[in-house]
Amino acid sequence: MAKSRASMTGALALLAVAALLCAPAAAELARLENPAKNDGSLSLLVVGDWGRKGTYNQSRVADQMGRIGEKLSIDFVISTGDNFYKNGLTGVDDQAFEQSFTDIYTAKSLQKPWYLVLGNHDYRGDVLAQLSPVLRKIDSRFICMRSFIVNAEIVDFFFIDTTPFQLKYWTHPKESHYDWRGVAPREKYIASLLKDLDEAMRKSSAMWKIAVGHHTMRSVSDHGDTKELLQLLLPVLQANGVDFYINGHDHCLEHISSRDSPIQYFTSGGGSKAWRGVFQPNQDNLEFFYDGQGFMSLQLDQNEAEFIFYDVNGNILYQYSRTSLRKTSHLQPSSYVTDE
Ligand SMILES: *[C@@H]1O[C@H](CO)[C@@H](O)[C@H](O)[C@H]1NC(C)=O
Repeated sequence: MAKSRASMTGALALLAVAALLCAPAAAELARLENPAKNDGSLSLLVVGDWGRKGTYNQSRVADQMGRIGEKLSIDFVISTGDNFYKNGLTGVDDQAFEQSFTDIYTAKSLQKPWYLVLGNHDYRGDVLAQLSPVLRKIDSRFICMRSFIVNAEIVDFFFIDTTPFQLKYWTHPKESHYDWRGVAPREKYIASLLKDLDEAMRKSSAMWKIAVGHHTMRSVSDHGDTKELLQLLLPVLQANGVDFYINGHDHCLEHISSRDSPIQYFTSGGGSKAWRGVFQPNQDNLEFFYDGQGFMSLQLDQNEAEFIFYDVNGNILYQYSRTSLRKTSHLQPSSYVTDE
């Protein structure tokens, strides 16, 4: 623990120079409450890389999400980003919002809050539109922010805006336009975000701590690992005992238990177009990999977390459970403690 705390300090120091001169006191991350069920348990679905107006099996995945969502009586849905292809939304009046979201995820069980992060393709459009409360007037499920916390009593979810981490989006602007309003300069944004995350994670006394971002930390598919996240974000997650990192970006379903950390990595990026036939093995322990479309469910209680991957027909592809590493006696009436 001491060692990972030290390496985190090192990672933060890399960014400190640019941030020191002008960074204001870090703003706190927004924290939303989503109560667990009466028995303290929670179930949810995770889908990523989906908004294609129903094409590439998006509608089939959506139908099966509706069916499984009903069966598990889900409390909410998480989107790991790349919500609208190919270039995000053009504005709050972009019809793609209805065509790729409202008109697709129509099942009764999916009429729950959707907590969404932004992906790199979302950054290619009008990012402020996706973050705008105007969309919530059109479809109240759509809760998209850059970085925020959802507390569901037994668990804190830390949603993290990972696109600004990746250097190539900044250094190769000719490939595509990225909407960096409210983000640039990169170093200052990341330093402040990591500080906020570290503080919030340290204060969390929930049984489970789960981080969600768009980009891969570890992956054997097309994009592979994201080295900026391994360098800058992973030390913060390790220092604070985060249990799981959930992402999209690679269009597949995978579970990696890495060589370098007890953190389990889950990719749920199969919401529409899949990258069939792409596989780049690495040094990690690959527990499961599927290069077709599908989604993931997560069921949690105080003692156990269970992840399940499903294909476009709703068939179970893979199942993984883990018991909590924390002692139940740590659980407090409020899942947050003060610094004192
Ligand atoms: C839809 O899913 C089926 C079953 O996995 C697959 O055979 C088919 O190629 C997929 N279609 C598209 C357009 O990806």
